Amino acid sequence: MDSLKGLKRTHDCYSLTEASLGHEVVLMGWVLRRRDHGGVIFVDLRDRKGITQVVFAPEVESETHKKAHNLRSEYVIAVRGTVRRRPEGMENTRIKTGMIEVACTELRILNTAKTPPFPLDEETDVDESLRLKYRFLDLRRPSMLEGLTLRHRVCQDIRSYLNNLDFLEIETPVLTRSTPEGARDYLVPSRVNPGRFYALPQSPQLYKQILMVAGIERYYQIVKCFRDEDLRADRQPEFTQLDMELSFIEEQDIISLIEGLIQHLFKDVLDISLEVPFDRLTYQEAMERFGTDRPDTRFGLEIVDISRIASGCSLKVFSSAVSSGGVVKAINGRDMAGMSRKELDDLTEFAVGHGAKGLAWVKIKEDGSWQSPIAKFFSEEERSQIESILNAAPGDILFFGADQKTVVHRVLGEVRLELARQRGLIPENKFNFVWVTDFPLLEYDEDQGRYVAVHHPFTAPMEEDLHMLDSDPGAVRSRAYDLVLNGVEIGGGSIRIHTPQLQERVFSALKIDEDEAREKFGFLLDALTYGAPPHGGIAFGLDRLVMLMSGRNTIRDVIAFPKTQKAQCLLARAPARVNMTQLAELYLKPGWTK
Ligand code: AMO
Ligand code: AMP
Repeated sequence: MDSLKGLKRTHDCYSLTEASLGHEVVLMGWVLRRRDHGGVIFVDLRDRKGITQVVFAPEVESETHKKAHNLRSEYVIAVRGTVRRRPEGMENTRIKTGMIEVACTELRILNTAKTPPFPLDEETDVDESLRLKYRFLDLRRPSMLEGLTLRHRVCQDIRSYLNNLDFLEIETPVLTRSTPEGARDYLVPSRVNPGRFYALPQSPQLYKQILMVAGIERYYQIVKCFRDEDLRADRQPEFTQLDMELSFIEEQDIISLIEGLIQHLFKDVLDISLEVPFDRLTYQEAMERFGTDRPDTRFGLEIVDISRIASGCSLKVFSSAVSSGGVVKAINGRDMAGMSRKELDDLTEFAVGHGAKGLAWVKIKEDGSWQSPIAKFFSEEERSQIESILNAAPGDILFFGADQKTVVHRVLGEVRLELARQRGLIPENKFNFVWVTDFPLLEYDEDQGRYVAVHHPFTAPMEEDLHMLDSDPGAVRSRAYDLVLNGVEIGGGSIRIHTPQLQERVFSALKIDEDEAREKFGFLLDALTYGAPPHGGIAFGLDRLVMLMSGRNTIRDVIAFPKTQKAQCLLARAPARVNMTQLAELYLKPGWTK
């Protein structure tokens, strides 16, 4: 093995062009490929920036040429050589350095490498667990590096934008107590306080509110949050928030601030001009039209309420759904009447998987007649009313859901997305932002038999709805807002309660009694009694934002060391067993297995 001693890199593998012809340069990096061409050896040298072709020819330096025979993929090397133009016809227009090559006069092999378990040169479909186990190799791939680079730029941009607006970046504790964001806590036992546990923060919510009471006025932090919940493509047990809080503001101030920030990010990082203000939907509208509070508005297929018409029809499942307090809603699958029986059965199964009792459908034939197992239950009059409200025409297929509202919304919301995916109706390279506002403050939890906060218990109710807090808690709207991008919730926040009186009223609506409130949030209640300013804030899922900006399908691709669906780090092999002594020191008993 050779040493680096005395050798200094002069260029990276991206920057050499014809402007450097004749210069002596020193490059360092990894061997991407080695090709032997009748005596001449070509090496594609890769570093973080790019790729440069290095040539080892016997007539240039015979010792070096001999040595180059030993090179293998992913060896770490340093080369000294002269930049020269590639022979005519040998240029590579796909890479920036494709017009030149470096004729090597000195080669140092700084390290060897085992053969990688998967190829690093292209986007081969590699099993993700293998990629996660060998993350150090996976991250060498240009596409992965691109993701991390974009993430870095987003973070730097956010910081400079907010710094210019007089925000302070302040860190909050990781060893803390439970914050109610609705997930399970990760707990850390305290050695010096036997039997007590810290909770890792699900968000810095309580601390950022305390910072407002402390007079900070404008706070942000790019911060790790921890939630022990079921994992999905856009959910990790530890993830990063851009967390913000401001004093003396109302909803519109935060909304405008965020629109400015996002607009700036997209322009600066992606060179995409976004129009502001972003669209807005109330929670109710989003649910009614898209079946979800995170609507993907890049395509139509909206949900339409036909309860009034269906209530009188002779199809029992429809009329009885309405008479028992439910709804009948429909989606017009425009020009999709060609769907086969098999496709319809699969879609019905899909709907049932999301809780539906069935998925009735009607194909509108060329002559305008209905082809459907349920056609006979509708009069001419009902048919034409349904067609008219759904704007239906020959060639369309209508899908119906009849059930309680929450079920119908969930099912048709999912059917809508599935149809769009199957039919390729989702345009790529489109960024549809929507603010969702006017969320309910509370929702009834059947299991617990009480109301729970939709966001968290510090979210302020709308003043005009306050009178219903005791009489009709479910009808009170909150001052919360979410930002949704292409059907993904990328951020959420609210105006907070800033008086102890109102906070206590909301705790009481949540059936959190005084003792419990004191025990869990006493420090916040105390702080509110010492002159808390009106305040509010928002937090973004940074991983999700970067995932969407870089066109990925999972946040794992924009996190350097993500965890698997089972919350394991395959690289470091965490979580791991610990020894008895460690357990004993923490006053924990060994022996838990499943
Ligand atoms: P919320 O719980 O809505 O609000 O979280 C804010 C944003 O964080 C992202 N997010 C996640 N991303 C990846 N993996 C997860 N497990 C995960 N959970 C949430 C989402 C979400 O919109 N304290 C409040 C904010 C506030 O009120 O200011 C909060 O944490 O993109
Ligand atoms: P059935 O009378 O049960 O054979 O149902 C007739 C059609 O209505 C089938 O296509 C079912 O999938 C559909 N269906 C049954 N229940 C519902 C429901 N609650 N909502 C929508 N469609 C339903």
